[in-house]
Amino acid sequence: MSEVNKDLVPKELTKKYSQKEIREKEKSFIVPAVGHYFKEPLLIVGGHESTLVDENGKEFLDLFSGISTTITGYNHPKFVETLKWQAENLVYTSNLYSTVPYAVLAEKLAGIAPDGLKKSFLLSSGSEANEAALFMAKKYKNSPYIIACTRAYHGRTTLAREISSAGWRTVPESHPSGVRFTPYGYCYRCLFGKSYPECDMECAHYLREVIKTQTNNSIAAFIVEPIQGVGGIIQAPNEFFKITHEIVKEFDGLFISDEVQTGFGRTGTKWWGIQHSNVNPDIITMAKSFASGVPIAGFITRPEYAAEYTQTDSFTTFGGNPLSCSAAIAVIDIIQEENYLEKAASLGEYLKKQLITLKEDHELIGEVRGQGIMLGVELVKNETTKEPASEEMILVMEECKNNGLLIGKGGLDGNVIRIQPPLALKREETNRACNILDKALTKVEK
Ligand SMILES: Cc1ncc(COP(=O)(O)O)c(C=O)c1O
Repeated sequence: MSEVNKDLVPKELTKKYSQKEIREKEKSFIVPAVGHYFKEPLLIVGGHESTLVDENGKEFLDLFSGISTTITGYNHPKFVETLKWQAENLVYTSNLYSTVPYAVLAEKLAGIAPDGLKKSFLLSSGSEANEAALFMAKKYKNSPYIIACTRAYHGRTTLAREISSAGWRTVPESHPSGVRFTPYGYCYRCLFGKSYPECDMECAHYLREVIKTQTNNSIAAFIVEPIQGVGGIIQAPNEFFKITHEIVKEFDGLFISDEVQTGFGRTGTKWWGIQHSNVNPDIITMAKSFASGVPIAGFITRPEYAAEYTQTDSFTTFGGNPLSCSAAIAVIDIIQEENYLEKAASLGEYLKKQLITLKEDHELIGEVRGQGIMLGVELVKNETTKEPASEEMILVMEECKNNGLLIGKGGLDGNVIRIQPPLALKREETNRACNILDKALTKVEK
């Protein structure tokens, strides 16, 4: 075996550079579009449980799991062991060959999916999963029409951008597309000026109007997030999904639940966010927590739709590779063995109560919402006008970071704190986190 070049070993590299040197390399060699959080971006070199560590050894409690991804935390022993074993045996081959991890993972997915969803296709990112699912729906229904929701975020590929809301679309040229939008159930800022539950769910019923006036009375699919993540942890009432599902079926479309953020138990007690509303989707798309940080994504669907998805539709170099699939198998096992679905529910409830208590003391907090370990705190300048407190949000994040706490940011106006921690988070850590957040809000409010 040839001698290992120490300079190329990541462990050595990590020790070699300062934050400043890395920032200079980034400026010289990475497209400026890759921006980081914070005035002084963090250089992360390690992590354990729910804690991240910078190059100076300073620790940060991570309430955002990267971006809602590292569900098992940073160094779960079973996860690490699985990766090591798989890396030593077979990191990669393509889906042109059979591998044990792909087949075993697909069977496991069918075991945890809602009734009737049985056939999986594995890819590498959430955008790709949505793109593939929509492609299949359009082909199966022979219709160009896809209905998405306002304030949605579904990814960065061309079609995924087109079904996302303005701030995240940035599609350079406009061209005829079959994408149409319908309102999401955002009760805090109801588009119809109504209040839940007296509203009679006008937002959900509006889908019928969209289909009748902006399509040829048929659709390929309706795609929706059970809780909008990037949109600002917006949680529509359960009826929203029941009503929209009925309308989708009235027009013979497919109902796609984008569970890239809500999947794998993040919403507590159930594997999938859509299950809380007793709606049985036709397709679920997934990514992020799927392998707790190792890139993998996919969709699961009913056999009759999958049958239309032919081999030429399924070229993917990395999709379903052994390393990612083994990591995903380990994640599913850990969730089951360690009762994570229940833990997400109880930890989330505990944390949400603390956030609601914070609201009593802070006028910046307009609303606390969400479920399980997918919680949002919307910041507003004024409780009556609900003007988004976007600048204050940035200050709160900075202040939290300076005190060892990482939170996420969401919403079209960037004014929603996103709390989507790993399940390794302990109760005493949530107390510490809320304490830091409390102090940050107080300082910014002054
Ligand atoms: C709901 C949802 N769908 C799709 C995506 C796109 O996933 P990816 O960034 O892996 O392409 C995201 C990413 O944040 C998301 O939140």
